[in-house]
Amino acid sequence: MSGNRGAMTTIGKGLLGVAAVGAGCLAYAGLYEVNAFRLRRFTVPVLPDGARAIRILHVSDLHMTPAAHARQRWLSTLGALEPDLVINTGDNLAHHGAVPVVLDSFGQLLDRPGVYVWGANDYYPPKFRNPLRYFLGPSRLKRLPERTLPWQDLGRGFKEAGWIDLTHTRASLQIKGVRIGFRGTDDAHIDQDRYADVAGPVDREEIDLAIGITHAPYRRVLDAMTADGHDLIIAGHTHGGQVCVPFYGALVTNCDLDTRRAKGLSQHSADGRTAWLHVSAGVGTSPYAPIRFACPPEATLLTLTSNGEEDSAA
Ligand SMILES: [Fe+2]
Repeated sequence: MSGNRGAMTTIGKGLLGVAAVGAGCLAYAGLYEVNAFRLRRFTVPVLPDGARAIRILHVSDLHMTPAAHARQRWLSTLGALEPDLVINTGDNLAHHGAVPVVLDSFGQLLDRPGVYVWGANDYYPPKFRNPLRYFLGPSRLKRLPERTLPWQDLGRGFKEAGWIDLTHTRASLQIKGVRIGFRGTDDAHIDQDRYADVAGPVDREEIDLAIGITHAPYRRVLDAMTADGHDLIIAGHTHGGQVCVPFYGALVTNCDLDTRRAKGLSQHSADGRTAWLHVSAGVGTSPYAPIRFACPPEATLLTLTSNGEEDSAA
């Protein structure tokens, strides 16, 4: 009996230890890492020979609420980077009153050239979801409800600042003498992507650099953009996996992209072509899952350079 009691005591202590470690991780993830913002930097060799470096700030997945003060403060520091271009890949909102907060937080960035697409969380308010569902595959809305978040008000603010809505639209900008062609889609995660609306081979007579922009990096969108000859594809949505395993990485991407490319710079091949792919781990999280582990919130400064040329000034 005493042997059994001893074993039970040891098991009990073990379980208590596991619970204490779990509680510690949760506290770290919710109280520290969720607000441990960082600016990541990558160099992408996609410019024509002789072109000057172009600095792009990629922001995504703010999931902003009026109460997210740390997120607002950090975002408002990014204007000091004075990027040549801002790319915003959606999921800005998580609250009906967040539009002025988002615009205020972007601050000086709204004075820079910018392009954007929307994510489902710009249209629909956040809901509680069982986190284990993410392991069953991408979470999908069965039937799309009415779009009740004030995404159109936010769009008006962006447009007044001169930012370009790329939803199923082509646009072009000349930056530092480089003719950049953009194409974007609506959110593939809710099956609102219609890449066919903007499809077609990149015209190299007109465009020096082709950038495709989409919220959720589903392979069908990446394949189509790559096959058309885009040089660079920019996306968000994955949150980098959000709760990751240290020294291993993401367990989920919440779309059909593999977990190795859940965040950061990688490449995508289709139809014998290869494009650079940058996926942002995002600035925020849903208010119903306010934790991050081994995957800090981020924005990214992409320094585009001539092929093969490293730019140490990034
Ligand atoms: Fe998101």
